[in-house]
Amino acid sequence: MKRVLITGAAGYIGSHTIVELVNAGYDVVGVDNFSNSSAKVLDGIEKIVGKRIDFVEVDCTDKEAFEKVFQKYPDIEAAIHFAAYKAVGESIDNPTMYYRNNISTLLNLVDLMVAKGKSANVVFSSSAIVYGQSNNLQMPIKESVPMGAAISPYGATKQMAEEILGHCVNAHNNLNVTILRYFNPIGAHPSAFIGELPKGVPSNLVPVMTETAAGKRECLSVFGNDYNTPDGSCIRDYIYVVDLAKAHVKAVERMFKDGVRWDVFNIGTGKGLSVLELINAFEKATGVKLNYKIAPRRPGDIVESCADANKANQILGWSADTPIEDVLLSAWKWQCSLDK
Ligand code: UD1
Repeated sequence: MKRVLITGAAGYIGSHTIVELVNAGYDVVGVDNFSNSSAKVLDGIEKIVGKRIDFVEVDCTDKEAFEKVFQKYPDIEAAIHFAAYKAVGESIDNPTMYYRNNISTLLNLVDLMVAKGKSANVVFSSSAIVYGQSNNLQMPIKESVPMGAAISPYGATKQMAEEILGHCVNAHNNLNVTILRYFNPIGAHPSAFIGELPKGVPSNLVPVMTETAAGKRECLSVFGNDYNTPDGSCIRDYIYVVDLAKAHVKAVERMFKDGVRWDVFNIGTGKGLSVLELINAFEKATGVKLNYKIAPRRPGDIVESCADANKANQILGWSADTPIEDVLLSAWKWQCSLDK
């Protein structure tokens, strides 16, 4: 079976993707330096797939150490590159840390994949943040929309990474790249053996919701109900992390099958939900009442972000079909497992 390298293997999306790759019959090797994750995630993956995955603790910015992974696993035929810092606010406070880490991990990966000499397939973990944070974007967003100005170093690293990969594909005949631009990933594996482990105090909506439901927070603040949307709260495209993980399997499969050199896909549901709609869905799914209040707008928030996912639906043969109630229930089960 073909072997796929996963960088950032113990992370939120990396861990869920490993489960789906193993379920689809792939051999994997994961690497992570646990800078924003825990080795316990590997136990969670083992409980789900029934075997220990191949794993090497390595910092992808350390090229020599990273190269040893390729020496140990010469059968790597594709890589999915998740390893990166991802907190927008932290990147604004510490830009060099973000540029250094997110760009050097990518450059090392590309060098090592290209040096294999054989066909090297890379799936890159990008974000809807590359479209910029403008309220003038036409919704839903298509992949053909030009990138907007990056307002954070984090967003800039994703834009740069996409550009760098484009240049590298032009330069190296054996390199193929698929870019996946995620919208708002949420939820956890239905087993509750893996899920999101936010570093520090979470600020994303769903972890805040589950912590409020668990009584760890007194109240959820809805940031603004006076936006120009049907109920006044902001709209996002919340994509279930397991559906998102499956999109990676589809992307890798297509690269193996069709030898596609370069492609870019939005990964979202194509359906926007408001903050208030998500709160209602959570209460309906879990039977737990959420204590929430309307608070002022959060600076920097855009009114609406929603994917046009038709390209992924048609070309990858993928769609996000898990009902939102099931997704929110998985997040709640995960929260309850953390508190045990
Ligand atoms: C943020 C990141 C984005 C990342 C995404 C998913 C920024 C600018 N963007 O997007 O790069 O890909 O998370 O991890 O930080 N909300 C509340 N109350 C809360 C928390 C959030 O009302 O306590 C609202 C927000 O105003 C927003 C929505 O919930 O309308 C989603 O917020 P959040 O989960 O933080 O994601 P984004 O800001 O969309």
